[in-house]
Amino acid sequence: MPTLNWIGKEAVIRHHKEVPFRLLETDEKLSHRDEDGGNLIVQGDNLHALKALLPRYAGKVKCIYIDPPYNTGKEGWVYNDNVNSPEIRQWLEKTVGKEGEDLSRHDKWLCMMYPRLVLLKEFLSEDGAIFVSIDDNELQSLIFLLTELFSTKNYLATFAWKTDGNFDNQAKIKVNHEYIVAFARNSDRFEHPPVVDPSIPDSSKLKRPEIRNTIVKNGPKNPISNIRLPAGFPAGFAEGELSEAEGDWPKFSGRAQIEEGTLSTEVVLSSGWSSKRLLEKFIENKFNPIRDSKNQETRFELMQSGTIEIVKVRDKPSHVVSTLGGFSSTQNMSARLKAMGISFDYPKPVELIQYLISMMGEECLVLDSFAGSGTTGQAVLKQNAEDGGNRKFILVEMDEGISRDITAERVRRAAKGYTTPKGKSVEGLGGGFSYCRLSEEPLFDEFGAIREDVTFAQLAEFVWFAETGTGYTGKGDSPLLGVHGGRAVYLLFNGILGDRRPNGGNILTKPILDELPAHDGNRIIYAAASRLGEATLQRERITFKQTPYAIEV
Ligand SMILES: C[S@@+](CC[C@H](N)C(=O)[O-])C[C@H]1O[C@@H](n2cnc3c(N)ncnc32)[C@H](O)[C@@H]1O
Repeated sequence: MPTLNWIGKEAVIRHHKEVPFRLLETDEKLSHRDEDGGNLIVQGDNLHALKALLPRYAGKVKCIYIDPPYNTGKEGWVYNDNVNSPEIRQWLEKTVGKEGEDLSRHDKWLCMMYPRLVLLKEFLSEDGAIFVSIDDNELQSLIFLLTELFSTKNYLATFAWKTDGNFDNQAKIKVNHEYIVAFARNSDRFEHPPVVDPSIPDSSKLKRPEIRNTIVKNGPKNPISNIRLPAGFPAGFAEGELSEAEGDWPKFSGRAQIEEGTLSTEVVLSSGWSSKRLLEKFIENKFNPIRDSKNQETRFELMQSGTIEIVKVRDKPSHVVSTLGGFSSTQNMSARLKAMGISFDYPKPVELIQYLISMMGEECLVLDSFAGSGTTGQAVLKQNAEDGGNRKFILVEMDEGISRDITAERVRRAAKGYTTPKGKSVEGLGGGFSYCRLSEEPLFDEFGAIREDVTFAQLAEFVWFAETGTGYTGKGDSPLLGVHGGRAVYLLFNGILGDRRPNGGNILTKPILDELPAHDGNRIIYAAASRLGEATLQRERITFKQTPYAIEV
């Protein structure tokens, strides 16, 4: 498989591993709490924010949508599009070294994106997918990067989004589309999206709850044969007689009368057929619906013309096409944000993001690590309000001013409701979020020691992630963190068992072992030290791991 090379690639390829784990610090004042909880807005460089979020959310995100800088070379926007922001310049200098100064803006963009995409992939659940907005500036590079990280097999589509905006300019060929590149974490597990492209009219048969097709099929693959329909076979009409049109198939013998929606006497039909075996199964099943090879509910009906129709229940209507249109424009979204009292150039239309996230079902965690004005947050709240779904969002925005005054403020207004400058009041969508920053000091210092102010719950996340590679979902209120692959993982830290014991119960002794919640099987116990001998550890099926040195993520 061809791969993409650029100056600085060597330096960033493993960079995500060197990024220290920071802690998330909640700012209650900027949060807008609701009962359900679970939504997060994180202010900080997403490289650090993603690393901090990983122990909690690895493998738990079903939908990632990102809208990174397109690298157009334009300056002076609310955000800096050409990857030349002081933060990114400083990061490149540190990461790539002297060479970083000579990089072209394309090399810089690739250096910036690579480690972030590596981390983002770790968040996706097996049935999850990532959607990335981009334009012509970096489309090819992006597809190369994503293919290298996700593999060709998991490529889903490059959507062309017709931007519907103003393209009254002097270009020889005027560009009126952008792209959204989509990859699955594992294409075998990516399901048919339960949505129908909104351009499809309601009258379309794609929106009908049933799929109907005749099984009368004449051709070399379907030689003529007889089908015997017993009395009671269901019909697609209430009363009447079957009428065989001259020269038409099927041919049928005798008079076939339909009364109260079923055949009153047996009839034999002759034609070429498809799905004949399924029809026989349906008859054997006394005309009760059966399941086809794709487990779809299936039944058959006799029609007035004598044809038989196979009727399948459309479980989840699904019709997604690779061109996206009719989703409004960034200009229009900007104007709508103004009415919310928010100023941001080029926000994505909320309807576009709603459509993308609704492809991933009603129960999903949505991550956007280039949040900008927070469109993804509003899209999650709005989609939930519209279809009763239970989606949650995590938004990350680097720029402190944007994050506080635009991202969080916009989502707060969308949730609570607001009044437009013209005095029209708009009802809130409900929901809320916690607003977090990243701790200045990482979890481990340069000598590998744990920060003194770390709580049990915070360390539990890291220990669980280090041991299992999955996000920690526990409450952090028990030394037994959970069982993974049959092995129980324990942590003794910060006196989780009470302060009576030596070192606050952080040392594994016999009395402490007796106090631990039981597990019948192998146990991994993280603690500051162990006073148990080798023989006891073996007999008790315990692997002891010393904190902090054995926490290897
Ligand atoms: C194209 S805008 C996203 C617009 C967004 N989709 C919307 O609808 O408003 C990209 C955003 O990513 C932010 N950003 C750029 N680099 C970042 C980084 N390393 N970490 C977090 N955010 C970053 C920028 O500040 C900017 O707000």
